Amino acid sequence: MTSASERYMTGFGNEFASEALPGALPQGQNSPQRPAYGLYAEQLTATAFTAPRAHNRRSWLYRILPAAVHGAFTPLAQHAFHNDFGRGPLNPEQMRWDPLPLPGAPADFVEGLFTMAGNGSPAAQQGVAVHLYAADRDMTTRYFYDADAELLLVPQLGRLHIATELGVLQVEPQQVAVIPRGIRFRVALPDGPARGYVLENFGAHLRLPDLGPIGANGLANPRDFQTPQAAYEDLQGDFELVAKFQGHLWRADIGHSPLDVVAWHGNCAPYRYDLRRFNAIGSISFDHPDPSIFTVLTSPSHAPGTASVDFAIFPPRWLVAQHTFRPPWFHRNVASEFMGLVHGAYDAKAGGFVPGGASLHNSMSGHGPDPATFARASSADLSVPDAITDSMAFMFETASVLRATAQALVAPHRQRDYGQCWADLPRNFRAPP
Ligand SMILES: [Fe+2]
Repeated sequence: MTSASERYMTGFGNEFASEALPGALPQGQNSPQRPAYGLYAEQLTATAFTAPRAHNRRSWLYRILPAAVHGAFTPLAQHAFHNDFGRGPLNPEQMRWDPLPLPGAPADFVEGLFTMAGNGSPAAQQGVAVHLYAADRDMTTRYFYDADAELLLVPQLGRLHIATELGVLQVEPQQVAVIPRGIRFRVALPDGPARGYVLENFGAHLRLPDLGPIGANGLANPRDFQTPQAAYEDLQGDFELVAKFQGHLWRADIGHSPLDVVAWHGNCAPYRYDLRRFNAIGSISFDHPDPSIFTVLTSPSHAPGTASVDFAIFPPRWLVAQHTFRPPWFHRNVASEFMGLVHGAYDAKAGGFVPGGASLHNSMSGHGPDPATFARASSADLSVPDAITDSMAFMFETASVLRATAQALVAPHRQRDYGQCWADLPRNFRAPP
């Protein structure tokens, strides 16, 4: 039987409590001698036991069988999904890709993952990996967990129905889902073919950015985050448990669904967020702020003010700045920028960057608007506001250089001439006579 249905609780990083059967959740303690309904109690520890209270994450799970119950792991071949970012010279050129083609042979979410770039390592629990996925079939008898990273899923085509140990989430394009490290889940594709982006965050948990002078509200508001209520599967049969551990995939037989958590409480849980709820804040005088103003979630590094990775979006908004070049400026950045486009068009490029596509501008590689965008914005009538509508671009911005994988560098969907998109910028300089 299954209790699976979509029901959510709101808030970010709350101490949630949820039970799919009445009385399944112990009251006043975590580990009773005999939990209700014959369930096993199990703790999922997601930060150091002694992490400061504000950052401490753990959840208690009350489940039909403990996570320890499964067969032996053996290697599973899925060579496009890995954390091998190479060690040789890395070309600093600007890079861009078309969307990952939909699979030629049937592929589920795990089979459809394609690693684009990354830095750090899962062994050091530091850095990120950036992947694309293109899938066309449900995970039916297969469950997956990632021991290496917290996962941020950014669908671009098709909904993802994600049944997890702690409950069921569904996300559509312009929504995102975060699955904590180690949580087991299964992905179904209610719309058929699906495509999107995945961030593996090896480092500190994604959290909401501080707001500083913005005040108590704005950007991504905590109440717009949704965490599923407990939902469980009581299924026995021939299933497969796939683990990603230290950059490689492993498989084990499992004789039951691992999504058998009847009740849970804690602050380590999957969640979803609708990017259209983002309260964009920007300039109402001149110039525009640094793009950190668009940060949805951030994973801090050990350096103050420096994120290991920021997840920022470029949502619909008004551009009203006066005597200002309104699109993103030309720039170079000590950080490295991987961009994707979920929906519509991006305001710094007149073409070439399409939904499902991606770009990579590494540390100190110059980039910015293309000639058509520059010409339009340089002569725009600033007496009227400009509305960016029907658009949703995003950026994974990392403190460390993102190393494109060998397969991303040679991929047929790479736009090898991307760097030439600035070649036709005119020389407007006129030296004084
Ligand atoms: Fe940039």
